[in-house]
Amino acid sequence: MASKKMTETKSWKFGAVIGVLISNIIIFCFKILWAGTGKACKKYKPLIGIYIVLFLSWVFSWHLFYLSSLCTILIQIIFILIIVMGSIILIQEYPTEKKRKYFYELFIQTGITKDVKKLPMFLYENDISEYARLIAFYNLIPISEWFKIKEELEILMDVKIIDIIQSSTHKKNTALIIETQPLPNYIEWDKKYHSGLDTFNIGVAYDGIIEMDLQSHAHAFIAGETGSGKTNVLKCLINQALCKHYEVILIDFKRGVSFSEFSYYIKIYYEYKETLEVLKSMVIETSDRLDKFRELKVDNIIDYNKVADTPMNRIIIFIDELAELLKPRDKELARTLTDCIETLTRLSRAAGIHLLMGIQRPDSTIISGQIKNNVAYRICGRFVDKEPSRIMLGNDSASTLPNIKGRFMIKGNGLNEVQCFYFNSYGNGTKEASEPIPSPSENLDEAHEAIPSPSEKSNEAQETNSSTLKNSDEAQESGFNFNFSDIEK
Ligand SMILES: Nc1ncnc2c1ncn2[C@@H]1O[C@H](COP(=O)(O)OP(=O)(O)OP(=O)(O)O)[C@@H](O)[C@H]1O
Ligand SMILES: [Mg+2]
Repeated sequence: MASKKMTETKSWKFGAVIGVLISNIIIFCFKILWAGTGKACKKYKPLIGIYIVLFLSWVFSWHLFYLSSLCTILIQIIFILIIVMGSIILIQEYPTEKKRKYFYELFIQTGITKDVKKLPMFLYENDISEYARLIAFYNLIPISEWFKIKEELEILMDVKIIDIIQSSTHKKNTALIIETQPLPNYIEWDKKYHSGLDTFNIGVAYDGIIEMDLQSHAHAFIAGETGSGKTNVLKCLINQALCKHYEVILIDFKRGVSFSEFSYYIKIYYEYKETLEVLKSMVIETSDRLDKFRELKVDNIIDYNKVADTPMNRIIIFIDELAELLKPRDKELARTLTDCIETLTRLSRAAGIHLLMGIQRPDSTIISGQIKNNVAYRICGRFVDKEPSRIMLGNDSASTLPNIKGRFMIKGNGLNEVQCFYFNSYGNGTKEASEPIPSPSENLDEAHEAIPSPSEKSNEAQETNSSTLKNSDEAQESGFNFNFSDIEK
């Protein structure tokens, strides 16, 4: 009796399993049909028209045997086609559907919203470089709410979220930028990193090489604690400026010891009297240049060089240890120096005279508000306390930087964590191994060959570091380069 009951239970269970299996198969077939007819017809709109025409012809021509059987065959062919299309679509969409399910459950866990209809829906993901990946969502959640759950998301996804951005044109589109591998701790400067005219390349960020465009960002601060790599950044920029044949003025109140490799090519100023003279001469040069612009009815160096007989060259003034320069005991001298720098930062952008200034601590007692306002490009190394980071970047991000030499936050077009190039001019320790720096007497054309043109640069750079470097076609959003144009897919 008991064994009969057990057999009955077993067969009941078996029947239930078969029932579930059959119903799943039926649901799956409907899914295929739905995907096939719905989505394939959406993709190939004439298909539904053909199908309706055939069906109607079949209904109305049942008495015409030949026509009716021809329609039946065609209907069957189209039906099979739809099933094939549906299967292909389901297979293609499987990874997206899986991701959607994963993120749906993940966002429920974070409690970002109580309304399930507002939960972010996964759209797509793609690598933006070998270091970072973009994951795009359609959602109705303000960006501020995303930032509140950033740390929780990092734990749940077990990744580092570099940034969260919202499309400027499609506010319902938000993307997480996640780290796929850490930035390298060391990238040695190489000729292949040369940028085009009017720009300097500084280092590698998550979305590629970071470029400082002198036309949009004329002056820069390089701040950071001792040993963070400020002088090295300046050296790398001096090398680029020399290779572009810009006029270079170097002021270093550490008596130029860190820049000795350049002493053969440029004069290094480290005494107040001479420095004041050179800065005053630059203020006069700015006025002269602006007068020349007025005569030719242009307002910047690029336009001037297009129409003038004798082109103007850019002048780059590098100042290391700005605090030392602006802190002489003689108060009158300090005021005159500050005035010169203030005037230059205010007026010299269009004139092609640029100030790139290294400073350990961007203290308001040293740098006046006006200088700070006019120097918008900020290269900021790690600070243990948050205050200098806030002064330089307007947020705490420099205080959370890893303790790596040459690692900086750069605020220019957005905010980026960057590993700056390490400039080692003497290569393997021999002068011959170094990159050729043109001396004023050398044939400049010869040295110029080392500099790729802007187009060459983008090709070469992208070929040599294809996965590292950013795609120039991608639009600028936040600090990163994203293409939100296909987010509507
Ligand atoms: N981009 C880099 N990659 C690797 N190492 C670097 C990099 N930049 C600097 N370093 C290392 O850090 C050391 C200190 O660099 P640097 O002299 O540029 O620092 P600093 O910020 O100018 O310091 P200080 O304020 O004392 O002058 C260098 O000798 C070099 O070994
Ligand atoms: Mg230094």
